[in-house]
Amino acid sequence: MLVRHPHPRCARPLPEGEADAKLRVSLEVLDELIESRKADHLRLSASGDVEALGGAGWEDVQLVHEALPEVDHAEIDLTVDFLGKRLRAPLLIAGMTGGHKTAHDVNAVLARAAERHGLAMGVGSQRAALRRPDLAYTYTVVRDEAPSALLIGNLGAPQLIAQGDESPPLGLDEVQAAIDMIRADALAVHLNFLQESVQPEGERRARGCAEAIKRVVEHVRTPVVAKETGAGLSRATALKLKELGVSALDVGGVGGTSFAAVEGLRAEAQGAAAAQRLGDVFRDWGIPTPVSVVGVKPVGLPVIATGGIRSGLHAAKALALGATLVGVARPLLQAALEGLPTVDAWIEQFLREMRTALFLTGSRNADALRAKPRVLTGATRAWLEQLGYSG
Ligand SMILES: Cc1cc2nc3c(=O)[nH]c(=O)nc-3n(C[C@H](O)[C@H](O)[C@H](O)COP(=O)(O)O)c2cc1C
Repeated sequence: MLVRHPHPRCARPLPEGEADAKLRVSLEVLDELIESRKADHLRLSASGDVEALGGAGWEDVQLVHEALPEVDHAEIDLTVDFLGKRLRAPLLIAGMTGGHKTAHDVNAVLARAAERHGLAMGVGSQRAALRRPDLAYTYTVVRDEAPSALLIGNLGAPQLIAQGDESPPLGLDEVQAAIDMIRADALAVHLNFLQESVQPEGERRARGCAEAIKRVVEHVRTPVVAKETGAGLSRATALKLKELGVSALDVGGVGGTSFAAVEGLRAEAQGAAAAQRLGDVFRDWGIPTPVSVVGVKPVGLPVIATGGIRSGLHAAKALALGATLVGVARPLLQAALEGLPTVDAWIEQFLREMRTALFLTGSRNADALRAKPRVLTGATRAWLEQLGYSG
């Protein structure tokens, strides 16, 4: 019997006998690769040209000005209840990182801001710390810094199933361990097959993911959020996810950080021309965030609008279309690398913009905003009409 080296790029078979002895070393190699991949993601996302070229289409969603608002600016109420906790504003610092020293520092700054502003926060995939408990501190720091915030753990759906002999599925005890690690209020299971498709070493087995998500939902007592990572959820997928028992949907639509672009840049640095080209071709692949929000809303689960939310006005538009929360990743990563005062200032400006949009539409809160008229134009309108989603 031959055992494959766990990393596909090192996929030389090992003779039986040597295999057990080498396995530990091989897993260490894999762990180092995961660690350096995560550092690449952080670096490239912060400074690279990685956004979807076409944007999310927020300019196609117009709120209607109310010249006589009949609500005081000071009365605007951004508080929202989500998965059993009250947030002071409908903003989720989207799950990004963990697993190396810089990630620890970024998570610490973002968590402190989440606590201070009463926001929700997610972490990046916790697989790294399940394999290497010495990396857990890069995640646990979020609970230390944000003792009362709504925190969302994170694991990938591809890791819930076997990705070949060399990559067994995470067990349910490991899933629970990820939740316990940060005393998470919810667990995000991310769907990232666009990224896996472009990544030279991507995990591209997908059969059985739905069953695996169902097992997780049935096993853990914590609510599970199904989370796309930049290619959007269709209504049909959202319906399936609801049947699997998930408690909320993060649409993670096209319009902001493109993981095809991020992986394309990594591939370029590795001299992997085919993957680089794949990243270019699929840079804007997927369902734009506003379209996805409108599409999944009737499914009846709370919706998080993530993907290309770059201002409080974008956020207000997402809320008007039916989102309960908005998620922001890349701009907050960039701010976190500058330090806590920059994150604070970013959040304060974002909330100021959100409040202004509510004020100028005469909406005291998000529910009132949802009842107001809005105008949909351009490509967003075409998407909605042709998919039969009504906005
Ligand atoms: C550096 C970086 C790392 C990310 N890692 C993860 C991850 O581990 N798990 C996950 O579910 N999403 C991850 N994401 C995706 C974000 O949560 C979000 O869905 C995506 O970046 C779109 O939001 P944005 O346009 O505001 O950046 C990551 C994003 C960035 C920028």
